[in-house]
Amino acid sequence: MGLGSKLVDAFSSDIGIDLGTCNTLIYVRGKGIVISEPSVVAVERGTKKVVAVGQEAKRMLGKSPGDIIAIRPLRDGVIADLETTEKMIRYFISKVLPRRWFVKPRMVIGVPSCITEVERRAVEESAYKAGAREVKVIEESLAAAIGARIPIFEPAGHMVCDIGGGTTEISVISLGGMVVTKAIRLGGDEFDEAIIKHVRAVHNLIVGDQTAENLKITIGNASPDKKIEKMEIKGTDAITGLPRRLEIDSVEVREALQEPINAVVDEIKRTLGETPPELAADIVERGIVMTGGGSLLKGLPKLIAKETGVPVILAENPLLCVANGAGMYFEHTRDMAKNKKTIYNSLNV
Ligand SMILES: Nc1ncnc2c1ncn2[C@@H]1O[C@H](COP(=O)(O)OP(=O)(O)OP(=O)(O)O)[C@@H](O)[C@H]1O
Ligand SMILES: [Mg+2]
Repeated sequence: MGLGSKLVDAFSSDIGIDLGTCNTLIYVRGKGIVISEPSVVAVERGTKKVVAVGQEAKRMLGKSPGDIIAIRPLRDGVIADLETTEKMIRYFISKVLPRRWFVKPRMVIGVPSCITEVERRAVEESAYKAGAREVKVIEESLAAAIGARIPIFEPAGHMVCDIGGGTTEISVISLGGMVVTKAIRLGGDEFDEAIIKHVRAVHNLIVGDQTAENLKITIGNASPDKKIEKMEIKGTDAITGLPRRLEIDSVEVREALQEPINAVVDEIKRTLGETPPELAADIVERGIVMTGGGSLLKGLPKLIAKETGVPVILAENPLLCVANGAGMYFEHTRDMAKNKKTIYNSLNV
């Protein structure tokens, strides 16, 4: 590295972005997480002009008047609306970049591994347009692993399971690379849908996404618990069309969540089954590290440990791992390159 590029590095910022289906987070080196907002954009129906982004737009979801629509451009782990996704990325980045940068920043963006090549390039392009000097798009489980402080460059198997809103990604990482990766389009959103379906089928009550999410976060539990909690919800009666209240308990919520939770557990088992034996032995020793908002569902780590027989560790700040890891990516890989050199030097090669 020449003196010029060293200088550039010293004055520029590294920015890490978690482009999630539910939340977008931005990490700036030296500052930490500076943005954490819902991945929602409100636009005018005809013109597609952006009216609000993030928290403000989320408040309009399901409540917007006819001429304004609130969109989640990344539903189900895929980019459902590329144009709006680009606008959202540029808006968030412009919020963290001061008007005049001495040197343009480098950006690392964590994206669901199931996005297509075209989508990946579009994300990259938006970051350049927003003012990046260098852009790297990486799988969110790799970012999650770095953010969860897993020593990914070790010659040992580590498993990370990131349960987001739209996707669940399970990866086995060794020597800085992904040995096995599985991604399913199922996450916290599906948990909410399962609750909506259940409440409608059993109680004839129609409830919105936010009510279902609230119920899941407040009294949801993946493992049976002695303490039964109750919560009151409101919705529309499916028969009379009138608003109505309903009290629901945690046992019922757990039953409603059974199907999507089982799908996640099965996928973890399948991934373990495809892991080379030496690495599987490491995982049994070190445990499965869980990240992503979905892993905050009460009792879920416990259930996964029970079902797989492998210890499960919930990462510190599961919602921040991808953004932190993306933000640390450049430093991490640079340190790694240095370490390699030291090893080679000591071997005299
Ligand atoms: N305490 C909690 N209990 C249960 N679920 C939670 C909790 N907190 C957040 N969640 C859920 O986590 C999900 C969002 O997680 P996260 O922000 O990691 O997703 P994302 O990164 O936006 O999505 P993806 O990784 O699929 O692109 C939502 O479904 C939300 O309801
Ligand atoms: Mg995520």
